Amino acid sequence: MSLFFSLLFIVATLVLVIGLARKIFQYARTPAPLKIPTMPAPINQAGVVMRLFREVVFFESLFKSTKWTWLFGWMFHLGLLLVLLRHLRYFMDPVWLPIQLIQPFGKYAGFAMVIGLAGLLVRRIFVDRVRYISSPSDYLWLVILIVIGFSGLMMSFVVHTDVVMVKSFFVGLLGFDFGTLPLDLPLMVHLLLVALLMLLFPFSKLLHVPGLFFSPSRNQVDNPREKRHIAPWAKAMEDQQS
Ligand code: HEM
Ligand code: HEM
Repeated sequence: MSLFFSLLFIVATLVLVIGLARKIFQYARTPAPLKIPTMPAPINQAGVVMRLFREVVFFESLFKSTKWTWLFGWMFHLGLLLVLLRHLRYFMDPVWLPIQLIQPFGKYAGFAMVIGLAGLLVRRIFVDRVRYISSPSDYLWLVILIVIGFSGLMMSFVVHTDVVMVKSFFVGLLGFDFGTLPLDLPLMVHLLLVALLMLLFPFSKLLHVPGLFFSPSRNQVDNPREKRHIAPWAKAMEDQQS
């Protein structure tokens, strides 16, 4: 069983890294022929950096559109960030000081994460106009993340697992050293779903993570009067004519 998990995580990491790199390459090469920044938009590059920063850290545009979705969405993502930072302790030895300091926050952030996800699920089920546009994958992601969070919280607060063993397994795996995992149910469920998340990430809506940075409506400078915007193909035609 431990060998199965070793191989599973090697494959899942490869799929995640190569899949994401391919997608980012594809996004970077996709033409954006029109000037379409959503107004009011920044008028220089520094402004675009600030806009993306506010978008990533505060979910600014979501805040402007729906407060409830923002509240639960932001709670989930902030919780997730703290939880993931806390998890870095399983992959490094010795553990960096900032990661040590974040441990207690990361532990309770698991609750914020699951409450946020539950709010988002209730919204998809009970708000008519959201249910109408929800696909099975929208529900599936919320359920996968809730079960990952719930099984994690079970281990942190109810049936503890041997975290020292988990750590030596993953630190070992980083050097392709196949170790042994404590085989208890919450950990098995947790790790199987985490591997599933990694395998599906590059083919799913979770691509909003790199995608945000490539959105023309968010990353373009509002300067069409100061600087003429010519798509590369149009520029090639213009050069031909002159
Ligand atoms: C740079 C990091 C990230 C940013 C800025 C970000 C931002 C957002 C935003 C703005 C939404 C929109 C909410 C809506 O309109 O319904 C969203 C939804 C979502 N995000 Fe992220 N996200 C990030 C990372 C992640 C990661 C790492 C995961 C999971 C592993 C994740 C999972 C989700 C899910 C499942 C939804 C859909 C929630 C729903 O059903 O309404 N996000 N994200
Ligand atoms: C290979 C990757 C992962 C490993 C080895 C792992 C392992 C663990 C372990 C051993 C615990 C129990 C901690 C304790 O007893 O104190 C835990 C808790 C938790 N895990 Fe994971 N996990 C992984 C990935 C993830 C991911 C990707 C998420 C979120 C999407 C997640 C969410 C949680 C949550 C919410 C908790 C409970 C709160 C906490 O202790 O931080 N885990 N995890």
